[in-house]
Amino acid sequence: MEIQITTLSENTANYGFLAEWGLSILIEVDETKILIDTGLSFSAVHNAQLLGIDLSTIDRIMLSHGHADHTGGLREVLRRTGEIVVIAHPDIWAFKYARRDQEEEQYVGIRFCREEMESLGARFDLGRQPVHITDRVMTTGEIPMTSRYEEIDKDLFVKAGGMLQPDKLDDDLALVIDTDFGLVVVLGCAHRGIVNTLRHAQNLTGQELVYAAIGGTHLFRASDERVEQTIADLREMGIQRLGVSHCTGFRASARLAQEFEDIFFLNNAGTRLTLP
Ligand SMILES: [Fe+2]
Ligand SMILES: [Fe+2]
Repeated sequence: MEIQITTLSENTANYGFLAEWGLSILIEVDETKILIDTGLSFSAVHNAQLLGIDLSTIDRIMLSHGHADHTGGLREVLRRTGEIVVIAHPDIWAFKYARRDQEEEQYVGIRFCREEMESLGARFDLGRQPVHITDRVMTTGEIPMTSRYEEIDKDLFVKAGGMLQPDKLDDDLALVIDTDFGLVVVLGCAHRGIVNTLRHAQNLTGQELVYAAIGGTHLFRASDERVEQTIADLREMGIQRLGVSHCTGFRASARLAQEFEDIFFLNNAGTRLTLP
């Protein structure tokens, strides 16, 4: 089993590619192409074109959650894919906000209405349970908060009845590939915690070994204690490739790079890798 992972959009970019705050990763496995997220605007389609990737050949889209930096490129992507199944959690349509420090609240949710996306070909497959895409490729469904030290970003909210309430990010999904060499897990933002996500993937598949975790880890405001605990748990899971992106942040990325040395990499726009 061979897996190709191509990052189409990320906060930083390799030479020649466009960067923007967001994430979009293309997975090719078992002759199936799955696009996880779409970036914030047009960088994913632009970078796909540079790489010679024909987005009309994609089989599925998975939206890791409703935030605009993962869903904002959906219109541009759908213009190229045409009719396609879009797997996500129903809460992607919640009215999502961020409010950092004393700043004013900012809308950070989906920027399109469902009808427009459907008119462009999106066939939404919305649910709370894991979805199998192939025998060995599945979404996580809702991720339980099981670790002692991971918590959801307290600056994220949903608005209901005119009031901001903490966003539990139930819509946070990851993609799990159960390979002969261990689990490969591709993360959007890991809002419900990278370790919670990986533990859930282990429980879903019965596979203990986590070979690779790739994508956003939302450690950018994590305490040193949380980062150290995360490192210890990743070690225990036997991780052999760690490619962080996006909301990992500089500080946690630097610490992970120092700790994991050559199994660590920054997963930027334009990064292509083949596993194992
Ligand atoms: Fe997010
Ligand atoms: Fe994000």
